[in-house]
Amino acid sequence: MAESRAQKTQHAKGKLTARQRIHTLADPGTFQEINRFLGGDIDEDYLGSGVITGFCKVGGRPVAVYAQDFSVRGGSLGQVEGQKMIHLMNQAVQLGMPLVSLLDSGGARIQEGVAALAQYGKVFQATSLASGVIPQISVILGPCAGGAVYGPALTDFVVMTKNSSFMFVTGPEVVKAVTGEDVTSDELGGAQLHSAITGVSHYLAEDEEDALDFTRTLLSYLPSNSGEKPPTFAYQPNADDEARAQKVGELVPANPKQSYDMNAVIESLVDYGEFLEIQELFAPSIITGFGAFCGQPVGIVANQSLVDAGTLDVNASEKAARFVQFCNAFSLPVVTLVDVPGYRPGTEQERAGIIRRGAKVITAYSTATIPLITVIVRKAYGGAYIVMGSKAMGADFNYAWPGAEIAVMGSEGAVNIVYRKELAKAKADGDDLEAARKRLEETYATQAVSPNLSLQIGELDGLIAPEQTRQTICQALMATRQKHRRAAPWKYGTNPP
Ligand code: HXC
Repeated sequence: MAESRAQKTQHAKGKLTARQRIHTLADPGTFQEINRFLGGDIDEDYLGSGVITGFCKVGGRPVAVYAQDFSVRGGSLGQVEGQKMIHLMNQAVQLGMPLVSLLDSGGARIQEGVAALAQYGKVFQATSLASGVIPQISVILGPCAGGAVYGPALTDFVVMTKNSSFMFVTGPEVVKAVTGEDVTSDELGGAQLHSAITGVSHYLAEDEEDALDFTRTLLSYLPSNSGEKPPTFAYQPNADDEARAQKVGELVPANPKQSYDMNAVIESLVDYGEFLEIQELFAPSIITGFGAFCGQPVGIVANQSLVDAGTLDVNASEKAARFVQFCNAFSLPVVTLVDVPGYRPGTEQERAGIIRRGAKVITAYSTATIPLITVIVRKAYGGAYIVMGSKAMGADFNYAWPGAEIAVMGSEGAVNIVYRKELAKAKADGDDLEAARKRLEETYATQAVSPNLSLQIGELDGLIAPEQTRQTICQALMATRQKHRRAAPWKYGTNPP
């Protein structure tokens, strides 16, 4: 009865019911519901609770799942819903399996007052304590208001559907009442906004099927819990992968001012050219995502030359840092492909807190205990060079392509500082200033902008030809498979969170 009632209301809005969503996520026939009748009188025409909880398999591996049922009091969270969700979360941690939550909720159930708020508090605590223990993925498939947004915000990944999902702390009506501002749900908390501007969402799905398909694929790269190694894929060496890997050097123009698509470079290096990008639309000057090398899943961080030449800004820093932190929690090695001119300069970035927020990349890489493999494909300048998986910060294998530019800063900036006196003299002597500057830039470039110094002081393990990159990464992953660097015996770091 409940399901046919739910179908009537949900289908009218072009949405699946909670139960249909679970079945779309799960391997066929594997969902086992728990606590279906919790809190109800099963002899009456009982409406049921606003959440369905249980276990299923995804890709053959166990996963805990709950789906909020908007057809029951707007999927709002009351005492019973909280009790069911918290029980499931505790079970997921105890049994060591990922938790996927499918959200569609009006937030705390208004009629239940503080009792509903208290349940949110418990959900937040359970989510926070499960963080880094089991992977947690939130799929937003409808409105998510009030307390419903902070639960997902605490999880590892948030997936949102285009046009039908919203996340806001206070809805348009409250905004209007309090501030007088007229705003639509989409402007206030639509999927596009959260995927491209706020960074709350990690994937902008076309529709519900796409969202759940992405979730299944994402889970395939992850271990079930932090005590396990990630799954390995059966990999068959093949001519296509070999051909792509051989041609990767052709994708990167020698002229450092010419941009190119780093995504194409990644796809040329990973198994079967398959790369699952995370937060594609947010802070696009850095790319993060999952791929595999010779069957071994890894996290990949790379500068996107097409966007601001791949500079690090506040959002890119936080995006990369959080991603490395996630990989570290779940034993996924990180492969970093570097082509970075530096942190983005300027008042806008300084005022946005590039010091505090840029520091997060340092914390993430330098405290990581997972294998770290870094390849500089073109430029690596200054602070951005050192923070992006450099040897000095603990990487295991560091390589550069021949012709890489590694230095404190580029020739144009450096000459003004280092050769200030020479330039002043040339000017005073009435020499051709531009010719003098060009000559000094060339001197600086040959002396200071090359991988040679890095090779001499051991900051690079070697130069590799582009066509050797894939094979070198595979070998480095093999060599680091048993890496067992322990974290320091701290309670927890107090670095910028
Ligand atoms: C009880 C709720 C509810 C809620 C919706 N419903 N939200 N019931 N508590 N929080 C009920 C409605 O009364 C309605 O019941 C049914 O669900 C469907 O809701 P509609 O409004 O008809 O749906 P729709 O037009 O799609 O709008 C969805 C919505 C809107 C945008 C979510 O319902 C809404 O704004 N709800 C309130 C959101 C909110 O402000 N939540 C904050 C709670 S405080 P009937 O019987 O008519 O079908 C909170 C704080 C937590 O969460 C603190 C943590 C930090």
